[in-house]
Amino acid sequence: MICIFGGAFDPPHKEHIRIAKEVKEEFAFDNVVFLPSGNSPHKSLQTSFDTRVEMLSKALDGAFPIDSIENTFSERAYSYKVLPLLKEKYGDITFLIGGDSLLALDRWRYPEEILKVCSLTVVPRGSDDLADLKRVAADCMRRYGGTILLSEKVRGENVSSTVVRAKVELGLDIPETSSAVQDVIAKRDLYHNYASYVTKVRSMLGEERWRHTCGVVLAGLKINENVGLPFEKVFLACLLHDCMKEARFIHRGVPEDAIGTKVLHAFNGAEEAKIGFGITDEEIVDAIRYHTTGRAGMTALDKLVYTADMVEEVTRTFSGVEALRKAAYADLDEGFRLCIKSSYESLKKRNIPIYYLTVDCFNAYCNKE
Ligand SMILES: [Fe+2]
Ligand SMILES: [Fe+2]
Repeated sequence: MICIFGGAFDPPHKEHIRIAKEVKEEFAFDNVVFLPSGNSPHKSLQTSFDTRVEMLSKALDGAFPIDSIENTFSERAYSYKVLPLLKEKYGDITFLIGGDSLLALDRWRYPEEILKVCSLTVVPRGSDDLADLKRVAADCMRRYGGTILLSEKVRGENVSSTVVRAKVELGLDIPETSSAVQDVIAKRDLYHNYASYVTKVRSMLGEERWRHTCGVVLAGLKINENVGLPFEKVFLACLLHDCMKEARFIHRGVPEDAIGTKVLHAFNGAEEAKIGFGITDEEIVDAIRYHTTGRAGMTALDKLVYTADMVEEVTRTFSGVEALRKAAYADLDEGFRLCIKSSYESLKKRNIPIYYLTVDCFNAYCNKE
């Protein structure tokens, strides 16, 4: 039995290889074949197929083969189209998927066709509940037929290629990848799509606040794994959220009653995002504007930046942060609600005047209990 391991591998990280080695051993597969996904015609920032294969072959270093069949598709290479071709080529195959993909199987194209061609082998992610996945797998087999195997020994740790790309954008180290992959990233200057924004924000902030900002970007992207907002919105809103925290000037358009208070930098930052950084996406501007006060009617991006700002892993160490972080990574709405509640109550306890938008926000999300 050959196990097919599909993915964008943009870039491949050490977790991919560990998982391949461990499932091969657990299920005694004859081999694991890596299947890099074809480039989507509509994703302009995507790394080219050849570059991803170059990184993957360096990462694998001959340990596992790569199949480039998806590069021959001019349209989107859906699994139900690719897997029959792979079955012809390799004989008995199983398709490796993460726990998240199993939970979304009913949204795949023709799952029953896929399960006719091959079995699925599921590797739970760090936060997945094994009993839950077992139930879903049994339910899917009843509905679609076929076989779904669940790994009992292997678990995907929370490493994501998206976070690795963001780290490169921010100029941070990427120990999640091998040095051979890092060489390709450097040589081909990959993942530097926001260099001018990064350089400018960095120049506006002291070292400690820059570290906090990087933490907010990474926490924001981690929260976004369950939310699915576009990378660019999350990355830029988080990157710019505190850009005016150390500024000495005040933009026009900032509310009078914010001047001289702790919430000024959020309103000032929203204006700076438009004027200084040329951001025209109102959703990004609003997420910056309301990241300190909140408001009633928060968008998903507003909530995400507010929450990431509070729970980021680099500089936030206040008591209770662990529980807030855990909630935020599992479910943004609940994580956000707990964050606004905790910060409102802490302001109240310390007798600090509370800005009216924060009161609105608390009333909208927490006062129903
Ligand atoms: Fe802030
Ligand atoms: Fe912040």
